[in-house]
Amino acid sequence: MNFDVYKIRKDFPILSQTLKCGKPLVYFDNAATAQKPLAVIDAVANYYKQDNANIHRSAHELSERSTCQYENARTKILKFLNAPAEKYTAIYTRGTTESLNIIAQSWGQENLKQGDEILLSEMEHHANIVPWQITAQKTGAKIQVAKILKDGSLDMEDFQSKLSEKTKIVSIAHASNVLGTINDVQTICKLAKNVGAKVSIDSAQSSPHLLDDLSKIDCDFLSMSGHKCFAPTGIGALVAKTNILNAMPPYQSGGDMIESVSWQGTTFRPAPERFEAGTPHIAGAIGFATALEYLMSIDIESAKNHEHMLLQRLTERLAEIPQVEIFGTSKNKVAVASFACKNIHPNDISVMLNASGVAIRTGHHCAEPLMHTLGVDATARASLAFYNTLEEVDIFADALKHAIDILS
Ligand code: ALA
Repeated sequence: MNFDVYKIRKDFPILSQTLKCGKPLVYFDNAATAQKPLAVIDAVANYYKQDNANIHRSAHELSERSTCQYENARTKILKFLNAPAEKYTAIYTRGTTESLNIIAQSWGQENLKQGDEILLSEMEHHANIVPWQITAQKTGAKIQVAKILKDGSLDMEDFQSKLSEKTKIVSIAHASNVLGTINDVQTICKLAKNVGAKVSIDSAQSSPHLLDDLSKIDCDFLSMSGHKCFAPTGIGALVAKTNILNAMPPYQSGGDMIESVSWQGTTFRPAPERFEAGTPHIAGAIGFATALEYLMSIDIESAKNHEHMLLQRLTERLAEIPQVEIFGTSKNKVAVASFACKNIHPNDISVMLNASGVAIRTGHHCAEPLMHTLGVDATARASLAFYNTLEEVDIFADALKHAIDILS
């Protein structure tokens, strides 16, 4: 099937605007947050217009409608990830960061002890580093870090040399937010299982590119963010094996997560409620499911091919500019290009690109240890989604050339 990107773009009203500079918006900051289709905006607005009520607590019609939509949305998360419902449970969180904190704090602090190891990689986001550092400090477990190769791919030899009977959990990004590298998480899971380690996948940057299939990956935990998958901010999911979740202590406590409370003590409900204390982001959950439905309604293979074509053009155009160094050139990449320009600070590049209508991100991308490995303080990063076009890649590359001419 042909992928009609211009038709798709009509679903995203924000993309068809002209900026203060008088130029049309070229949105290449999708790894930071993606834009929302009308279906999502409408679903959230309609929920507040027609159905708004608290869930699980009242017998009135609005509450029933809200509960029903909130719980149906949960099943769509499993469907989107092709996660067998008899094995996995989806817990709503605020996003990948909260999901990873739940794993590190609740599972980690219950299961790790002195002598145990947590295996991460050099390409991790702070959200997959700092929670583990806190847990390591509290439990005495040690963090091991698998190296990356020159092209930004995971050094599997180093990974395997650091994976041992001591490894109790491997926590790794499916796709790097800086390098774009897609890790072979299926193989990583198999290797980890051989030593009895659990696996946590940070899918913040892979789920928007439609890469996660839990029936194949078979990891123990997967963390995702709604807002990077074209849903509202403030909602995400921790999808994990139900038996593991039910053996984990609650992460937060309060209403809706209890079985019974008395002055003598409290018993907790099983997952998902055990991890959903208080009134959740109901409209967010509904918007999240609508975004996932939207993604499932487009031709996924064509969308992936389109993104691949964009990445190829982006890489070619960047390679034409002698002052540009690209970080992350592995064969298996999502449409993300991090780069530096000789003797020019990335922030200056970003300001110049903004004047041409092009939105990119610069900085350490919440991956300071990776910046140290790359030997830079910051990079500029263009991150694309399936609604971007080849013309936009050319606008970006021409604007970048122009910026470098002026700034060098
Ligand atoms: N983690 C997001 C990014 O890479 C915010 O930009």
